[in-house]
Amino acid sequence: MAFPNWQQQEPVFLVFGRSGWIGGLVGELLTSQGTKFEYANARLEDRAGILADIERVKPTHVLNAAGLTGRPNVDWCEDHKIETIRVNVLGMLNLADICLEKKLHLTTYATGCIFHYDKDFPEGSGKGFKETDTPNFTGSYYSYTKAMVESLLKEYPNILVLRVRMPIVGDLTYTRNFISKIIRYDKIINIPNSMTVLPELLPYSIEMAKRGLTGIMNYTNPGAISHNEIMELYKSYVDPEFTWKNFSVEEQAEVIKAPRSNNLLDTTRIEGEFPQILPIRQSLIKHVFEPAAANKEEVCAAVRAMRGGRV
Ligand SMILES: NC(=O)c1ccc[n+]([C@@H]2O[C@H](COP(=O)([O-])OP(=O)(O)OC[C@H]3O[C@@H](n4cnc5c(N)ncnc54)[C@H](OP(=O)(O)O)[C@@H]3O)[C@@H](O)[C@H]2O)c1
Repeated sequence: MAFPNWQQQEPVFLVFGRSGWIGGLVGELLTSQGTKFEYANARLEDRAGILADIERVKPTHVLNAAGLTGRPNVDWCEDHKIETIRVNVLGMLNLADICLEKKLHLTTYATGCIFHYDKDFPEGSGKGFKETDTPNFTGSYYSYTKAMVESLLKEYPNILVLRVRMPIVGDLTYTRNFISKIIRYDKIINIPNSMTVLPELLPYSIEMAKRGLTGIMNYTNPGAISHNEIMELYKSYVDPEFTWKNFSVEEQAEVIKAPRSNNLLDTTRIEGEFPQILPIRQSLIKHVFEPAAANKEEVCAAVRAMRGGRV
């Protein structure tokens, strides 16, 4: 099938996920760039509705930040398997099929939580999972459906699948921010992980779409950082009195329903596209902790309030 040359077209984006975290940030970014875009109105499962959105917006590119993530967290998917299939499998494939039929480039914000350290990829070895590696983590229903769909999406010649992990923004009180989560919890595990610093990486996603990239992309900053290393950064940049407690993965399993993945993703591909990409620690310092330090009293008070007064 011949596609238009996406790189040579003046891009017009159709964005799914208006009310979501990442979808909202993508809209703000496109607005600030002056890039033409409209949000979609259709649900992912609604073929006629998506076709009507395409007819209305006449996009060159589609960005999908819609999907079921579960509230308060992915444990929700364990008890809502049919709803999860309907959106994350049927809906996702429906959108993929329509974009192929209409010869549109589709970028989807997917997940890298489909891998887990194992004997071939031991924690701390520095060996990361590549785009070509087969997912080895299906411990939660959310990850199970995401891994299954990724294995299907990779066959599409018009789709870029971005493996997002533990997304982070500068606002330390935003409840979905990975750092806000671990600051809030009573106890945290301590395992190095690949993470996505959204203020740095979201602009790259728009650029990758404009470049017409396809296939799978490990969409994280290079390297891994542990929970304790992040807490140390918070302590040194914002609140020297800050304390936290660790627990083991076995103890964590007692307070969550489904296991969570911990992994390092190989970032050779994204580094090839964006050689200026910052290693995770530097990116966190630039985009999270230096801005927080500039506003220390306010951030510290807001975080302590979020922790119910706990220091
Ligand atoms: N947040 C994370 O920790 C994380 C980590 C890795 C990957 N990701 C992936 O990134 C993507 C976006 O995540 P997010 O955190 O921004 O999600 P989010 O805040 O939960 O937002 C999800 C968005 O999807 C929309 N949506 C849900 N079901 C839909 C359907 N059937 N049709 C159309 N829209 C539907 C929601 O709209 P309504 O409110 O109208 O339902 C909402 O706008 C997801 O695919 C997620 O798996 C997220």
